[in-house]
Amino acid sequence: GIIMASASLILLWAMAILRADSLPDKNSLLLPPTNFTINVIGLAQVLLRWEPNPDQEPGNVELGYRVRINAPQEEDYETRNTESKRVTVLHQGFSASVQTIPWDGHSLLASNWVSAELKAPPGSPGTSIMNLTCTTTTTLNNSNPLRPYQVSLYCTWLVGKDAPEDTQYFFYYRYGSSTEECQEYRKDTLKRNIACWFPRTFIRSRGSDLLAVHANGSSQCAAIKPLDQLFALHAIGNDDQKPSTEWFLIVLVATICFILLIFTLICKIGHLWTRLFPPVPAPKNSLKDFLVIVSPEKTVSSETEIEVISYVEESGLETLEDSVF
Ligand SMILES: *[C@@H]1O[C@H](CO)[C@@H](O)[C@H](O)[C@H]1NC(C)=O
Ligand SMILES: *[C@@H]1O[C@H](CO)[C@@H](O)[C@H](O)[C@H]1NC(C)=O
Ligand SMILES: *[C@@H]1O[C@H](CO)[C@@H](O)[C@H](O)[C@H]1NC(C)=O
Ligand SMILES: *[C@@H]1O[C@H](CO)[C@@H](O)[C@H](O)[C@H]1NC(C)=O
Repeated sequence: GIIMASASLILLWAMAILRADSLPDKNSLLLPPTNFTINVIGLAQVLLRWEPNPDQEPGNVELGYRVRINAPQEEDYETRNTESKRVTVLHQGFSASVQTIPWDGHSLLASNWVSAELKAPPGSPGTSIMNLTCTTTTTLNNSNPLRPYQVSLYCTWLVGKDAPEDTQYFFYYRYGSSTEECQEYRKDTLKRNIACWFPRTFIRSRGSDLLAVHANGSSQCAAIKPLDQLFALHAIGNDDQKPSTEWFLIVLVATICFILLIFTLICKIGHLWTRLFPPVPAPKNSLKDFLVIVSPEKTVSSETEIEVISYVEESGLETLEDSVF
């Protein structure tokens, strides 16, 4: 599959800055959350966290929170949790606000807002990489039955127009909880990294997670602004035949499992059946009776024979002894 995108602005994260909004409104019964922080927990990933106001009287009102993302892209949502994870580009900084709201439709007024922000990382936008293009390729590797589809990632970019000659770029990707740094760069004539090849990645070809990439850099002469970019992988154009093969395999495995399950069930039910309803006595017993009837006769007859034989032997010995004498 192919993903394309072009670069925009850049930056890195800074420390979260906490600032409580003005004085509490006397008309508002709800108090704003406290200790609101924003932390970078991964590449292009932040965790917003706050605590209920300890001075909030525990009334009958169920409390919730309204979160407003102000930058890089406005977004508004409500939650009952006291934390929230967001996937977002961070090179332009990040800022958000949160307020306490009545959760169950009470007519109470929402609290004041508290805000926090991550400062944009230093460096002029022209120093970051430009025209970033990434391509993923899914290949079938039959020698690895657990993960038959391997996804490679190839990204290329241009050196920023304001980047000094000694600039070096470093490239990373994150997929889910896996982050990797590039190990195989392609370089330009000034030995600056301008492309990266990940022959094997943690990317799942049919996964729904966003692919996050991050390019930062260093130079003796200037701060190099980093750049984040997010890619939606389901927007892939030449993978159409692969999913059907994948689906076929999934259906096949599921069918086999189902048949095995049914077979096991039948065996178990059969076993249970014989326990609940012991075999019909008639045929077996008649056979047993027959054997019982037959065997005493045989026993009797053999005993008789033995007796007879022993008698004969005894008599024979006697006869022999007799003959000695
Ligand atoms: C919240 O912040 C206050 C002061 O800013 C601090 O005293 C308190 O320990 C913090 N609470 C938690 C649970 O960290
Ligand atoms: C890089 O991207 C810019 C706009 O995003 C475009 O104007 C420019 O032609 C691109 N450069 C190259 C070499 O593709
Ligand atoms: C296929 O998978 C096996 C086992 O994981 C690995 O050793 C091999 O290098 C893979 N082949 C290719 C072409 O990636
Ligand atoms: C680039 O980003 C990676 C991953 O976030 C980080 O570990 C590294 O220190 C950064 N390097 C520079 C030069 O900023």
